[in-house]
Amino acid sequence: MSLLTDRRAIVTGAGGALGRASSLRFAREGARVAVLDLCDDAAHETVDLVRGQGGEALAVVADVRDETQVRAAVEAVVRAFGGIDVLFNNAGVMPHQDVSFLDADLELWRTISDINLHGTMLCSKHAVPHIVAAGGGAVVNMSSFLAELGCRIPQDAYAASKGAVRALTRSMAVQLGPQGVRVNALAPGPVLTAHVEAFFPDPQARQLRLDRVPLGRFGRPEDAAGLACFLASDDASWITGQTVVLDGGISSNYL
Ligand SMILES: NC(=O)c1ccc[n+]([C@@H]2O[C@H](COP(=O)([O-])OP(=O)(O)OC[C@H]3O[C@@H](n4cnc5c(N)ncnc54)[C@H](O)[C@@H]3O)[C@@H](O)[C@H]2O)c1
Repeated sequence: MSLLTDRRAIVTGAGGALGRASSLRFAREGARVAVLDLCDDAAHETVDLVRGQGGEALAVVADVRDETQVRAAVEAVVRAFGGIDVLFNNAGVMPHQDVSFLDADLELWRTISDINLHGTMLCSKHAVPHIVAAGGGAVVNMSSFLAELGCRIPQDAYAASKGAVRALTRSMAVQLGPQGVRVNALAPGPVLTAHVEAFFPDPQARQLRLDRVPLGRFGRPEDAAGLACFLASDDASWITGQTVVLDGGISSNYL
């Protein structure tokens, strides 16, 4: 028996690195996956990869900031799959221009919150009633280890948005527990995607960060996918309201 047999899942931001790895893992574990992304091409690439490994997937193009688009996307998934059991709110942005609150650009701050926080809220608002109607299920939210730790190279809008996702996760869990919906979050440390690598301008900057990782390596998209899959599955059936950090030990490391 696989972890997500017969589950109907939505993965947002599923055209990107972690969302794609999660869609592939969810599908390998038996789920039908709605691959939701702002980018049509990226969503279809993920769908092709899922189908290529024998899984079932559907591309849904929507901007998680836009309530009309989110409502329509959720309705399209319900029409195609007959319901929803799992929502993985993975879509998020971490712009290189995000710096200290002292130098914050308010428009950029709002954009980051709009996608990372308000997008999580909107997708949950529209998908959760269907999860309840299906008799219960799971929501998995995407936080970050940067919500757990301060940093001398700040990304304050991002950290604040992901901290808010953590708070929302707890509140959703308490409200939805009696209806059989578990809500948890994952908080990954640096996962080496091309976008994250661009934060390390030179080998020294990269090594500085690597030296902080007791397990001696950066994260991989599959690390996040594995945890998201576990949290979405019945193996986590008594876990709710939690944010699980996966960071190779960075947040336990004083020096
Ligand atoms: N990569 C890391 O090191 C890391 C660490 C901690 C947390 N995270 C979080 O994991 C999630 C995925 O990160 P990633 O590294 O795969 O990023 P990514 O940029 O590879 O993927 C993000 C995806 O989200 C989509 N997206 C962006 N805005 C959207 C919107 N408004 N509506 C719908 N889709 C939208 C993008 O098109 C993209 O496909 C993000 O929430 C990110 O903050 C990443």
